[in-house]
Amino acid sequence: MTIQSIPTRGRTLDYAAPVYDLLEPLCLLNKQAEYDQTLIQTLTPQPADAILDLGCGTGLLCEKISRLLDPALGGCVTGIDAAGKMIEAAREKRGAPHCRFEAMAAERLDFADASFDAVISSLFYHHVPLDLKQQSLREAFRVLKPGGRLVIADMHKPTTLLGALVSHASRWLLMQPQIGENIRGVLPELMVEAGFLPPQSVAHYFGYIALFSTSKPL
Ligand SMILES: C[S@@+](CC[C@H](N)C(=O)[O-])C[C@H]1O[C@@H](n2cnc3c(N)ncnc32)[C@H](O)[C@@H]1O
Repeated sequence: MTIQSIPTRGRTLDYAAPVYDLLEPLCLLNKQAEYDQTLIQTLTPQPADAILDLGCGTGLLCEKISRLLDPALGGCVTGIDAAGKMIEAAREKRGAPHCRFEAMAAERLDFADASFDAVISSLFYHHVPLDLKQQSLREAFRVLKPGGRLVIADMHKPTTLLGALVSHASRWLLMQPQIGENIRGVLPELMVEAGFLPPQSVAHYFGYIALFSTSKPL
């Protein structure tokens, strides 16, 4: 079934959906398993949790999270992406009653207030301009229950020379000012601005990706 993409000013990856599962391990220098594992450990999914993944791509992280959930207790992970082709691929490869995928823009979430225990996002925020970063963080805050966890891994201030080279080259070669915002380190302050507690920086990858963990106050 063809799934329509959702209009957004974010950089969607419909064209990359057929090859994304081959490309991503290369982009993560063959450390994808370790990277995903750290994200999931930081998220600490509980069996009955309702979890939301923003900018889920082809849904590999959702699938890994779903293995830790118990559908009999209501545990469920939902991945959203504005690219219809990503959602088609995710549903086809990884869809299950407790591992769902919806075409949706992260800045306009079609979910009720306080409907998730945790929100996770990997490598999505450098795809959207500043106002959409802000709006999507406000939406994450809205759909989280009080005390709900937020885990974000994304491009951030480079910590190594190689990291600086990779991130500045991608900013200029791809002509993406939104990557420049990440490099300047805007994400933690935007999380606080959206209402979250000051985030902890949990880990760094490849000198240009940082992993943040925070929560909505009780
Ligand atoms: C680099 S991929 C990351 C995919 C996956 N989270 C991962 O770690 O492999 C970024 C994704 O964000 C999606 N995207 C871009 N703008 C979006 C928006 N406004 N709302 C939701 N998804 C968006 C793209 O279509 C793409 O699939």
